[in-house]
Order: sequence, then C-alpha cells, then structure tokens
Amino acid sequence: MAPNTFVLGLQWGDEGKGKVVDALAPDYDLIARAQGGANAGHTIVIGGARHALHLLPSGVLRAGKECVLGNGMAFDPEIFLQEIDRLARQGIRLQGRLYVSDRAHLLLPYHKEFDRLSEEGVGRIGTTKKGIGPCYADKALRVTAIRVGELSDPAAFRARLKDVLARLNPRLRALGGKAASPTDLADRTLRLAVRLKPFVRDTVTLLHDRLGRGRRMLFEGAQGAMLDLDFGTYPYVTSSSASVGGVCTGLGVPPKAVGEVLGVAKAYTTRVGEGGFPTECLGAEAKMGERLRTVGHEFGTTTGRPRRCGWLDVIQLRYAIAVNGVDAIAMTKLDVLDGLKTVRICTGYRLGGRRLTSFPASAALLGRVRPVYEDLPGWTSPTASARRWADLPKAAQRYVLRVQKLCGIPVRMVSVGADRGALIHLSRGRA
Ligand code: IMP
Repeated sequence: MAPNTFVLGLQWGDEGKGKVVDALAPDYDLIARAQGGANAGHTIVIGGARHALHLLPSGVLRAGKECVLGNGMAFDPEIFLQEIDRLARQGIRLQGRLYVSDRAHLLLPYHKEFDRLSEEGVGRIGTTKKGIGPCYADKALRVTAIRVGELSDPAAFRARLKDVLARLNPRLRALGGKAASPTDLADRTLRLAVRLKPFVRDTVTLLHDRLGRGRRMLFEGAQGAMLDLDFGTYPYVTSSSASVGGVCTGLGVPPKAVGEVLGVAKAYTTRVGEGGFPTECLGAEAKMGERLRTVGHEFGTTTGRPRRCGWLDVIQLRYAIAVNGVDAIAMTKLDVLDGLKTVRICTGYRLGGRRLTSFPASAALLGRVRPVYEDLPGWTSPTASARRWADLPKAAQRYVLRVQKLCGIPVRMVSVGADRGALIHLSRGRA
C-alpha cells in the first residue's frame, strides 16, 4: 500500500509536479495542497486536452478523489470560482469532494495591487503578481489579515474589511496605487462567499478524520524547494514554505503523517523571475538555453513569461534533497534533451580559486559562483515513445543512472512527454 506521499518540486518550480500527482493519484484517496496560491501553474494533458490549474490541486482531475486546499494557502476566491466553473463546463463536478480550509488566508484584489506596485520599483523579485507576498505579509502582521472562515459572518466581515482598508488604503495611495472601496469590495466578496460556502470546512478536523480511517493522502507541493521562503534563494523566493515542513504547518497534519517525499526534477533546470541560477545557459551557451526553452515549451503557465533555462545542477539538487529528506526522484522532460551531442551535469561550484561543496545562502555569492560540469554523451534516438526502461537509448539510461548516483537516491519515474501516459515507472532499485 502506498504511504502518504509529498510530491515536492526540487528546483525553482515548473518541474511537472502536476503530471506526477495526476499519475500517482489513483493510488491515493485524498490530494491536498498546503501552501501558495494561484501563483502555481500546473498543466496536465489528458488525451490531447490541456488543463491548466492554478489554485486547485491537480488531483481534482481524478474522479472521486477528495481534495483539500489547506490552511497554509493564500486563497483567491475569484480564481477558485473561475477554476471550478471551467471544470464544471468540462463535466468535472467538485462539490462534495473539494474542501477549502476556514483557516486559509483570503487573497483580495488589493493584495494584487500591492504586488504590482512593489514589482515596479528597484529590488523587484519577478513575482507572478498574484498578490502572494502581500497576502502572506498580512498574515504574519496579523492586524490586516482576513481568513476564509470570517466570510461566514457577513456583518463582522464588513466591519473587519473596513478596518483593514482604513490601514491599507493610505499605504496604497502613498505608493501611487488605487485605494479599495470597503463597501464595494465587501459586497463583491460576500457575493462570492455564497458560492464558496459549500466548500469551506475545518479541514484540520476533516484530515484527521481521514487519517484515523486510514485514508491515503497525497500532498501536492507548489512552487519548489528553491523558492521556499526559508531555504530557497532568498529574497528571490515565494512567500510560503514550499518544503516538507510546509505540509505540516499548511495542513495541520503531524510530521509522521508525511510518509514519503518524492522529489520532482526536470532533466535540466529552469527558473522564472530574478535571482541566481548557476547553470543558466548564457553567453556562449545562449543558443542551448534557447533550444531548451523552445523544445521544452518553457513559458510560464501563470504569466506566459519565457523561463530561464540551463543544465541540471546536482549541488542544488543535493541541498534540496537534504533539507526535505527526499526518498526518490521523478525525473521529468527527459525527451527535451533528445538529439543533443553532449549533456552536462553540474557537480560543483567554483568561487575564485575555491571549490564549494554546498549550496550558498547568500544571493550575492550564488550570483558569482561558476559551475563545474561533467559532460556525458547525448542520444540521437527519440525517447518520447519509451514506456519501459529498456526502451530508453543506452546514453539516456546512463544519464539517469549518473544523476541517481550523484544525488544518492533512486530515480523512481522518468517522464518523456506531456501526455498522461508518457511515463516510465522504474521498479525499486532498478535504475
Ligand atoms: P510569487 O510567488 O508570485 O510572489 O513570486 C515569487 C517568485 O516565485 C518569482 O520568481 C516567481 O516567478 C516564482 N514562482 C511563484 N510561483 C511559481 C511557480 O508555480 N512556478 C515557478 N515559479 C514560481
């Protein structure tokens, strides 16, 4: 029986977690998201049809599975309703199996306005402008935060929003932004609240009920280990705990309920937004970066921005594996490397005359390190139709085995295309 499993992005997000969650979901009873909000972008292709989800867990696409949006999330009610309406038009009904935590924090339009304004100045992070940072900042500040559960008492919600906006509107104006009308925003949000009501629950109690009944849970990570607020490439990170600790704080489940951690890593690396990226293909390698972007369709699901592309970085992966106690790897998009003469793996960083063996905490240092590469022969035959390990070209097998050796944990799955079926499951200890 599958243990409860956390599916974690091992890089800077966009690793293909949605596809891995979708593939694993049949073995689980419930799929839960613990953190982040509509900054996430999961694209799942089923029979040629693309489903792009931002706020809902990818598990919603599997009929009959219960899905939870946990207390650790920044919950945007408008996007939530848009996504459930879109799925309803495709015949996917979620009422009765999708639950939103009453402890989750409400993300309202003024959070997006703050996000937009702070991205205009110097020191921009390159955010998705979905209001994530301002919403979590309010949560930490407490006095300007509103939780989903507060929508259940309309009069109290109106009073609360009025007080919050009395504090926030002067700041919005001072930054050159648009102040929000307490009455209009309360009316608009309370209209949405009527539709939200059947989904809102005390999800902590619900999850503990399901744990008590032995239900198997899949915890769906959003963003990635290197975007974690504490352990990522700060300050160029998101504002939530994208790593394993976030599962516990973002859902109210104990650490021992997180049975296994499956880390998802692309066969190369991408990132969007600002921040250090040692293996980014720039300068003499710019053409390679362009090739990875074109072949891998590396454009943001949420913002459409071109992603920065580079080689696989084992120093970065080992750090993410250590922090999160990752048990095994799901490697995605191996097919994007098809046809290359040489494939590179970064096995060290050099800084001046020194060789670093661990991932630096400082953004300034990370920006200055130079990657040390190990070059492996590439493969000419396509991998896209491979469905078993033996179908992969020998050089592609060697690449996967080398990554496994360098990371010190098994590669459990290899994905070779966007479609649901384009996946090779490796038996334990096989590769
Ligand atoms: P925010 O989460 O919108 O505040 O953005 C902070 C940083 O995280 C930016 O570099 C974003 O590009 C990045 N980011 C946030 N969510 C995702 C995601 O789902 N995939 C990839 N990058 C993300």
